[in-house]
Amino acid sequence: MSDFSVVTADWSNVADRARCAEIRETVFIQEQSVPVEEEWDDDDATSVHALALDLDGTPIGTGRLLPDGHLGRIAVLKQWRGLGVGAAIMNALIAHANDAQLSGLVLNAQTHAIPFYESLGFRVDGDEFMDAGIPHVAMYLSTS
Ligand code: COA
Repeated sequence: MSDFSVVTADWSNVADRARCAEIRETVFIQEQSVPVEEEWDDDDATSVHALALDLDGTPIGTGRLLPDGHLGRIAVLKQWRGLGVGAAIMNALIAHANDAQLSGLVLNAQTHAIPFYESLGFRVDGDEFMDAGIPHVAMYLSTS
């Protein structure tokens, strides 16, 4: 297993915000060509942000949980994929949701990532749709 940790980041802290933003800039804006104006929104200020760090404290992944139970912006740097970082970010956010007694966890998954979310217990709910030029499906966390 590779060595990394997942911490909670505070969006109101300039350094924390820069570390989360750096990952999303690399993965969503540069790699996936998501328009800059669609990447950043008001939900960042009210979300719980998870930040994955390597042993040197360098950011390698991030994700967020909105107060209404929406998970999103899950991103891991290419060289760190397939090593459990994304699952660790998701599990940290799900733990926050449980602590906050949020009952329904939902997300909009890029279709290529459906197996990733299914491995964490999420199930597809509804038809495919386009967002930021990328095919998505709604998913919810199945508790059964
Ligand atoms: N296809 C099939 N299974 C996948 C997968 C894929 N593309 N990516 C991950 N998985 C599975 C793993 O095999 C693993 O299963 P296991 O527990 O049975 O071994 C599980 O999901 C967890 O994988 P993990 O290594 O934690 O995932 P990751 O660190 O590579 O992160 C993403 C997954 C999707 C976050 C990462 O690929 C990524 O950042 N992609 C680009 C950004 C993106 O598309 N984000 C999703 C937006 S909805």
